[in-house]
Amino acid sequence: MPVVEAVGVTRVFGTDGMVTALDDVSVSIAPGEFVAIQGPSGCGKSTLIHLLGGLDTPTAGTIRFGGVDLATLTDNERTLLRRSRIGVVLPIVELVPTLTTWENVAISLLLDGRTMAEGRARAAELLNAVKLSDRGNTVASRLSTGEAQRVAVARALYNEPHLLLADEPTSFLDSVRSDEIVGLLRSLADGGRTIVMATHDVRAAAFADRSIRLLDGRVVELNVVRDA
Ligand SMILES: Nc1ncnc2c1ncn2[C@@H]1O[C@H](COP(=O)(O)OP(=O)(O)OP(=O)(O)O)[C@@H](O)[C@H]1O
Ligand SMILES: [Mg+2]
Repeated sequence: MPVVEAVGVTRVFGTDGMVTALDDVSVSIAPGEFVAIQGPSGCGKSTLIHLLGGLDTPTAGTIRFGGVDLATLTDNERTLLRRSRIGVVLPIVELVPTLTTWENVAISLLLDGRTMAEGRARAAELLNAVKLSDRGNTVASRLSTGEAQRVAVARALYNEPHLLLADEPTSFLDSVRSDEIVGLLRSLADGGRTIVMATHDVRAAAFADRSIRLLDGRVVELNVVRDA
């Protein structure tokens, strides 16, 4: 069964129905797959990421997570599902500026009742994975944009999500750091995690198992498979 799928999804923005961000899009993401969503600016990549993560609801069509139609869940159920099963990295990273790096990574511990010691240990592991061990005690407002982006990836992994959605996770990184982050996503996928990444970066997309290409809100190529 797919981890997540969009079936005939359309998303129209604006009260007068002016912008069709997605137009009858169907995609299906299998367990353990690493899929890149590619296409030019404005083609609908972020819109699709938001819909797959239950952060937005389609104008028409269905989003299913683990076979369950998200429209049949209450807001509360959708929030719980997101919190326990889905990690999201958004392009503009919002860290709590007055908290340290590790506190930002462990922030969901405030919601799930784990101890500070556990939170700190888990945050240390994740900061190590994104090569930021030495910044754990730095106040988030002092981090560079690229560092904040890496913290966002660590934070999204905190709850060991089944599905990791990443919207342009490398947009502020140089090629070395970018390769490190996408390489980390690659190794997570190799370990069985399912990853969907929106990117305009061909270099980043080359790490994925396949690409879905969008143009003007429509899927133009569904299955661009990478060379092994
Ligand atoms: N909240 C919104 N209200 C109105 N229009 C929107 C909204 N979100 C997206 N759009 C429009 O929908 C279309 C698709 O936007 P989207 O952000 O999904 O594109 P994208 O492929 O992620 O682009 P980029 O590469 O620039 O991030 C665009 O025309 C955009 O202006
Ligand atoms: Mg976008």
